[in-house]
Amino acid sequence: MKHFAIVGVLVVVVTLAVSLGLNTKSLLPVAASAQSATIDWLFDLHFKLISFLFALIVVFMGYSVVVFRRKKGETGDGDHFEGHTGLEIVWTILPLGLVLYFAYLGAQTLSDVRRVDPDALEVEVVASQWSWQFVYPQYEISSDTLHLPVNRQVLLKITSMDVIHSFWVPEFRVKQDAVPGPQFVKELRVTPSITGTFKVRCAELCGTRHAYMENPVKVLTAEEFQTWLDTNKPSDNPVDRGAKWAKEFGCVACHAVSTEAGQPTIGPSWVALYGKQETLADYSTVMVDDAYLHTSIVDPNAQIVSGFAPNIMPPNFKDRLTEEQIADIIEYIKTLK
Ligand code: CUA
Repeated sequence: MKHFAIVGVLVVVVTLAVSLGLNTKSLLPVAASAQSATIDWLFDLHFKLISFLFALIVVFMGYSVVVFRRKKGETGDGDHFEGHTGLEIVWTILPLGLVLYFAYLGAQTLSDVRRVDPDALEVEVVASQWSWQFVYPQYEISSDTLHLPVNRQVLLKITSMDVIHSFWVPEFRVKQDAVPGPQFVKELRVTPSITGTFKVRCAELCGTRHAYMENPVKVLTAEEFQTWLDTNKPSDNPVDRGAKWAKEFGCVACHAVSTEAGQPTIGPSWVALYGKQETLADYSTVMVDDAYLHTSIVDPNAQIVSGFAPNIMPPNFKDRLTEEQIADIIEYIKTLK
């Protein structure tokens, strides 16, 4: 009986130490959505249960190893015993009950997280190798930064242009795969609860620059969001539009647009590119003009520049960009000196 009392106290102490030391506050980033409250609550509950199971195993094992070890001068084995019907019934019924209870809590939490607000703001999220684009169909605005008003549910309609990506803002706690194909538009609802700047990351291994596939998320007050909508109507200037497309469609993730340090070197630099003689992989030379740039955008493997690898640039820009957008990007490249 003495042993059970000591072990019981140790199990309680270890459970408390682990569950108080490891919780959502110490493990997870700040909670920034209405959905995160219920998700974190369930996460914490799981952690408490897991802490108890951990204590149960480690304390019994550690106590047995220390207290019941073979002492000096002792020979032979300890008592042998097998089977205990009562104990077996308890450790079958108890975990089964717990699993069913947690399944019930999980289903409740999921339906809570997915609750539909008819006033939700709709945003189309387009993932591609290796950037995110956000389209606000009601306002005919697109952006490479996800702007959201605080305390209003947003319905994200998530698609991919190429491979599987995954939309993940850790502070929002929710995550959704982006799957290619127009029939697979995935919906995700989130209600930002605090203003601030976060990041959407890609949570699905998707190629060379997967690790850098992250775009800013700005949660604004309702007034700031309205101001942003008002000031982001499409520009009349093709160069401005070209700069915007280059960011939104991910061009600048691989092509340098200035001579500053830290510019990407995966594709040829756009700085002072227009009008230059470019040497291709087959040692022929070509003049960089409108036609060359157009071909490079719609058929990137046609003229690979010497020193660069083929098949890195996605070949689907001919479907993703309109002719006007391509013309805008070329106008933008012309201005980079
Ligand atoms: Cu997109 Cu990883």
